[in-house]
Amino acid sequence: MVLSQGLFYFCAMKKIAVFTSGGDSPGMNACIRAVVRTAIYHNLEVVGIMQGYKGMIEGGENFIELNSRSVGNIIQRGGTILKSSRSKEFMTPEGRKKAYDNLVAHGIEGIVCIGGNGTFTGAEIFFNEFGIPSIGAPGTIDNDLYGTDFTIGFDTAINTAVDAIDKIRDTADSHGRVFLIELMGRHAGFISLAATIAGGAEQVLLPEIVEDHSKVVEFFKGRTNTKKSFSIVIVAEGNIEGGAFKIDELLKKEIPNFDSRVVILGHIQRGGSPTAYDRVLASRLGAGAVEALMRGEKNKMAGLINNKFVLTPFHDAIYMKKDLNPDLVRLVEIFNC
Ligand code: F6P
Repeated sequence: MVLSQGLFYFCAMKKIAVFTSGGDSPGMNACIRAVVRTAIYHNLEVVGIMQGYKGMIEGGENFIELNSRSVGNIIQRGGTILKSSRSKEFMTPEGRKKAYDNLVAHGIEGIVCIGGNGTFTGAEIFFNEFGIPSIGAPGTIDNDLYGTDFTIGFDTAINTAVDAIDKIRDTADSHGRVFLIELMGRHAGFISLAATIAGGAEQVLLPEIVEDHSKVVEFFKGRTNTKKSFSIVIVAEGNIEGGAFKIDELLKKEIPNFDSRVVILGHIQRGGSPTAYDRVLASRLGAGAVEALMRGEKNKMAGLINNKFVLTPFHDAIYMKKDLNPDLVRLVEIFNC
């Protein structure tokens, strides 16, 4: 019998696995630590699978026993000690069968997978085929998963972006230039929108809002009489017309003497020591994922909504649309006068 969230329940599970998959995000290590220590606290054995689904398929040295000391001194580290990958082979039935055989050979009865929508898509298919229960912890800087207000790594990524914007602002001011800064988010503008507000950028182009560069052209043309001499424009990676270089090209065609520079922040946003917020989030979700598995939950993603722990079916987490906060979108317009 185990006490969790005020309830006693019976847990027959003895051994679980944890792995990270897809694009890494700061806080994944804090989540791995939480999974391992929570499992050990509840007398479960834990295996770490190196390289995500790729390691699950390859087996062998990719399966490592973890104990409390294995996850010491990692809470502050970016990246993932378990490494990560995007596995094409796991998308095939043959690949998944090899992965299943390796899990069975190691006596694994439940899985905590840390990753984004690709990771959970794989976990859902795998559960439907082989019945090994999984609980996901949302690890992605993109914050594009339904069923949690924030994903692990998002807070660190926006802080990294804002730090860069602050620095670029100095040189933009000195030279009276426009900077177009491209931020990550393959299909989602959460990083770009938050960084626009926090970094004081005047304009943003987001994948979720169908607006083209003419909005930015109008903004600059309408601003010729104001005293402001420099500007920051954020372009989300997944913007419909293309990234920051493409937008810059379009703007230069329409605005005479447009003195601009382009910065692509790229993978810098994926690295670095996680913020305190990401560490707490990762710790709560990792611990909650293990206890959910022990209660017999399966095929769900752990999340926090309004600071409360919740579980959302993988299917909804992947396919339901998480909307940008309309209040933030409105603030961009209010502040750019
Ligand atoms: O999903 C996280 C993310 O960083 C996206 O924002 C970005 O589009 C993508 O991963 C980049 O992936 P990769 O590192 O495989 O190039």
